[in-house]
Amino acid sequence: MNQEKLLTYQPVAGLLPRPSAGTPAKTIALPAPDMTTGLPLMGALWQRHSTREFGTEALSLHRLGELLWAANGINRAAAGGHTAPSAHGIHEIDVYAALPGGLYRYDPQQHCLLLKRDIDARGLTGYQDFVKEAALDLVYVVNHGRMTGMPRQQQDVFSGVAAGAIAQNVYLYCASSGLATVVRGWLNQRQLAEAMSLNEDEVPVLAQSVGFRAAGGAAQ
Ligand SMILES: Cc1cc2nc3c(=O)[nH]c(=O)nc-3n(C[C@H](O)[C@H](O)[C@H](O)COP(=O)(O)O)c2cc1C
Repeated sequence: MNQEKLLTYQPVAGLLPRPSAGTPAKTIALPAPDMTTGLPLMGALWQRHSTREFGTEALSLHRLGELLWAANGINRAAAGGHTAPSAHGIHEIDVYAALPGGLYRYDPQQHCLLLKRDIDARGLTGYQDFVKEAALDLVYVVNHGRMTGMPRQQQDVFSGVAAGAIAQNVYLYCASSGLATVVRGWLNQRQLAEAMSLNEDEVPVLAQSVGFRAAGGAAQ
């Protein structure tokens, strides 16, 4: 992709998000993850790969709960520790879930989804056609307001690493449970931030599509 094309490219669904399907719940309580299922770690590593062809089948609440917990849930309640590491334990990355039924922020403490906007934002999470078809697009948003003690360059490095760790958790959960996924850096940060009603100090750094593999879809 040359510079000229990049400048003229728009997110696949146009400039406006689609209305959400139905009336979204303000809060969605997520089921606790089942720690006894899925492939063991070595098997999941063996299976991990990116997929760019998705079916339209929705994820069950059970899978959504497990996926988000694996992404960045609380795994040490007493200390408030997360499944993904973060420099100084700041946990500057918020995980958003763009679902057909609304745009939600994952609350790791309560293990629930909180409605951010009553829109289907999937089509705005990237430039590739499949983003609007995947059952779920996660968006990793760095909250620079939590990192004010660090120089900006360090904020960018540390938050990129933290988002990458979350993305790999999602890859491993997907590999372990037979779901398809691909992490994506090719997105329009400004437009997405606006669609998501983010504050000035909140920046979407990565997105990740998740869903079932398209029937007969290639394994990549
Ligand atoms: C930071 C980062 C950004 C990426 N951005 C995109 C993207 O915008 N679109 C895409 O289709 N894949 C994207 N990928 C996925 C890579 O293309 C993919 O990991 C690579 O081709 C290796 O394939 P594998 O994941 O199956 O091993 C990205 C990966 C990383 C780590």
